[in-house]
Amino acid sequence: MDRIAITGGARLQGEIPISGAKNSAIKLMAASLLTEEALRLTNMPRLADTRFLGKLLQRLGTEVVESVGEDGPETLLRTPEITSGFASYDLVRQMRASFNVLGPLLARTGQAKVSLPGGCTIGARPVDLHLKALEALGARIDLHEGYVYAQAPRGLKGAAIDFPFASVGATEHAMLAAVLAQGETLLTNSACEPEMIDLADCLNAMGAKVSGAGTSTIRIQGVSRLHGATHAVMPDRIETGTYALAAAMAGGEVRLTRTRTDFIQAMIDKMVEAGVEVIPHNDGLTVRRNGALLKAVEFETAVYPGFPTDLQAPFMALMTLADGESVIRETIFENRLMHAPELRRLGADIIVQGGEARVRGVASLEGAQVMATDLRASVCLVIAGLAARGETMVNRVYHLDRGFERLEEKLAACGAQIRRIKGDGEGEED
Ligand code: UD1
Repeated sequence: MDRIAITGGARLQGEIPISGAKNSAIKLMAASLLTEEALRLTNMPRLADTRFLGKLLQRLGTEVVESVGEDGPETLLRTPEITSGFASYDLVRQMRASFNVLGPLLARTGQAKVSLPGGCTIGARPVDLHLKALEALGARIDLHEGYVYAQAPRGLKGAAIDFPFASVGATEHAMLAAVLAQGETLLTNSACEPEMIDLADCLNAMGAKVSGAGTSTIRIQGVSRLHGATHAVMPDRIETGTYALAAAMAGGEVRLTRTRTDFIQAMIDKMVEAGVEVIPHNDGLTVRRNGALLKAVEFETAVYPGFPTDLQAPFMALMTLADGESVIRETIFENRLMHAPELRRLGADIIVQGGEARVRGVASLEGAQVMATDLRASVCLVIAGLAARGETMVNRVYHLDRGFERLEEKLAACGAQIRRIKGDGEGEED
């Protein structure tokens, strides 16, 4: 397995272009199953997760062609016919988001057999809300031997669905299924994350009638068929926030381009409170810290527009060097503070109790061998390594490759002392 070695202490100076959003791209790819015509996705990130989903879609009958267009990497997906409605345990276990093919398969062909994803390192992560939404749309759902058998022989029917929790995945899944249902669907207490808007925009470009995405109430007027379209994947807000934090941690000045600041405003506000300079511009933002002391801040993760859970780990890395005590509460996932013991290996002073971490800033971190448990935890260790004295070796970096395109290249281009050490063997998904 590959490892990443970082020699800390180098200030970052330069520009980092932000890629298309992983979390959006994989749902948009699943949307391509809804039509026999071609969906062209531009600004596509090239990641282990998108490659993996491409392979799964091919097994279901999708032609997947990757190319580089005028505006960077793009993927053309065309499914003239669904040749299989089956997603095996092995596939869904390796990438949870594979589960999202269930709704589109059901909507297009009236049946699907998809493995339940099971738990993962950041928590139990059930899919009960996804299944309830599909049942509300008229699907018959049976669970046998770890598989979801879903059937809607006479098609799905619009329904009113009130989510008990504003789940990102369940809202997207309901949208993906309801666009081809007969009649109107009303989703209330929906997730409001910007990825909802990206998915709705793409579906609408394909002929769907979705309104209200990005608010808690989404209205979908079902249509009988969708057609091909071209859609640009939104910029990755988590990648944006992560590199902003990397620049703050290492010090220096980094301009993040091809992105936006508004969709991570809650985190930017906390960075500013911590004493980091953030200058928004048309095409992104500049992050600057020239020797200023970092101040400890308190925050808790929340659904959008609150502080994103995916930026909690990297922000904790920054707080390890802040002046004072920072209190960080994780409210979205029950087991998402597993990076704390690894940060402690680098010399951080962190006490975890339940879903809360108390981080007392230390004067410096010291490089060590560390191991990442999931994607966002891995990148928090890289960020810590940028400021640690000596060498930090991050093991099990396959997690990073799932969600960050050319991470070490992007950071090295700004002066970070970071390199990949090639190993062999593949890992499994978190
Ligand atoms: C998505 C993102 C992930 C992000 C998360 C929250 C993708 C591929 N992943 O994950 O990066 O951290 O949103 O912003 O887009 N839950 C249930 N039952 C369900 C569904 C969810 O109990 O049926 C619970 C989960 O266990 C979790 C919480 O709801 O505790 C949030 O999950 P959800 O918003 O669905 O996140 P994901 O879609 O899994």
